[in-house]
Amino acid sequence: MSFKEKIDLNKLPKHIAIIMDGNGRWAKQKGKMRVFGHQNGIKSVREMIDGAGEIGVNYITLYAFSKENWQRPKYEVEALMNLMLSSINREVKSLHKNNVRLMAIGDLGNLPKKNQVELQKAIDYTKDNTGLTLVLALSYGSRWEIIQAAKSLAIKYKNNEIDESYFNEANFQNELNTHNIPEPELMIRTSGEMRISNFLLWQLAYSELYFSEKLWPDFKKEDLFEAIVDYQNRERRFGKTSEQIQKS
Ligand code: IPE
Ligand code: IPE
Ligand code: MG
Repeated sequence: MSFKEKIDLNKLPKHIAIIMDGNGRWAKQKGKMRVFGHQNGIKSVREMIDGAGEIGVNYITLYAFSKENWQRPKYEVEALMNLMLSSINREVKSLHKNNVRLMAIGDLGNLPKKNQVELQKAIDYTKDNTGLTLVLALSYGSRWEIIQAAKSLAIKYKNNEIDESYFNEANFQNELNTHNIPEPELMIRTSGEMRISNFLLWQLAYSELYFSEKLWPDFKKEDLFEAIVDYQNRERRFGKTSEQIQKS
């Protein structure tokens, strides 16, 4: 029985967030340059989009480039930016055909101008699609995002638009890049690393974490389905006792 067949479609996570890690090691194992790994990682991105679409997951967020990744060697950063640009341009038609809506989170103003323009075009082009929402985290850092939210509230407070009572979880979350996106129930990281790396710190507060040993270019649809089955076998307690959960 495949993992896909084991999935309970009534208990699907609405939102899955993925840290796509291990491209460099994958390439190195094959005696190739790191960039070769990034190029092959795109195939796994396609697998996730198809897989999520097949079973009806509503949102997938992919951590594609972190704020910290700007510190990588210049040629790697440039290669990643070029890959992002060519992939968006190449895939936008098929995303649209598959009813996928594209969104992006992160400090997008830091991306090369060309990337910003093409990204925005793709977002606009697919904005009315009603299938899977694909969220790309680009130049994304969660601490940056949280500080932006705090600043935005500080300005509103200073301008007397809000008072102290406005400061609560719902209103704070409303200032985050992800204000119109539900929290991920499941977060997957590939390549055996067990850390969050400044990804969705606020949003992952109660997410189920799943770590795969596979390197990102080897992570396929069936691996995604396996992670979902694993998720469905867990009990999410949100601070309550197991008995309370089973009664409700
Ligand atoms: C993930 O793969 C892709 C990005 C961070 C852009 P890595 O490039 O981090 O690959 P490893 O972790 O060095 O193997
Ligand atoms: C996290 O991967 C960022 C992305 C996948 C885009 P990294 O490979 O940059 O993370 P660290 O630095 O090893 O934690
Ligand atoms: Mg890495």
